[in-house]
Amino acid sequence: MELLNKLNWRYATKAMNGKKVAEEKIDNIIEAISLAPTSSGLQPFEVFVITNQELKEKIKPVAWNQSVVTDCSHLLVFAAWDTYTEDRINKMFDLVNEVRGFKNEGWENYRQMLLKSYPQKDAEENFNHAAKQAYIAFGHAVIAAAFEGVDSTPMEGFDPAAVDEILNLKEKGLRSCVLLPLGYRDVENDWLANLKKVRKSKADLVNRID
Ligand SMILES: Cc1cc2nc3c(=O)[nH]c(=O)nc-3n(C[C@H](O)[C@H](O)[C@H](O)COP(=O)(O)O)c2cc1C
Repeated sequence: MELLNKLNWRYATKAMNGKKVAEEKIDNIIEAISLAPTSSGLQPFEVFVITNQELKEKIKPVAWNQSVVTDCSHLLVFAAWDTYTEDRINKMFDLVNEVRGFKNEGWENYRQMLLKSYPQKDAEENFNHAAKQAYIAFGHAVIAAAFEGVDSTPMEGFDPAAVDEILNLKEKGLRSCVLLPLGYRDVENDWLANLKKVRKSKADLVNRID
């Protein structure tokens, strides 16, 4: 399967060479992010695409000084909603009605159900739920990047509060949850580039119930 070949080629790149990724490939990766499934279709996150070198230099020290933050081509920051609000929920439900061109009673009842539950919940609980949705899209991005022959580094090794401050995320009602530098591997300087991929056995991973 061609996809599996690409997933085997992918690894969490530790060193990148600064080469630019074509915008067309970035667009495809963003489209894959956009196409990710999310709970109730709310897409409760935003993605920041950073090419600004000064900004990358600011983020690097709060991301464990990982070199790929500055040596990547595009740095993606996935930022989830800090909570679910009535306004945010209504906006997505209204968009569905607008795009599909009709109102449906079942869908409207479902909207009311969400409006009666999510906004009343603890903000931290809501953020954690939103962050899970962001991670699904993040997974799409990792796969799409590999599909495009673009290297990436999934990255939780950073201080979210510091990144939120650098990008003024609090004012936008967002909190950073995961980073994804995109670029091209620097094979000579990457200790991981030629090491075998290690995965637990399928017996330890999969429980079949026939
Ligand atoms: C959510 C998440 C966070 C990660 N954070 C980092 C990180 O901060 N720095 C890093 O070098 N690798 C990071 N990794 C990479 C993992 O260590 C790596 O995916 C794992 O060891 C499997 O190796 P492979 O991706 O090369 O197949 C992260 C991976 C994930 C999924």
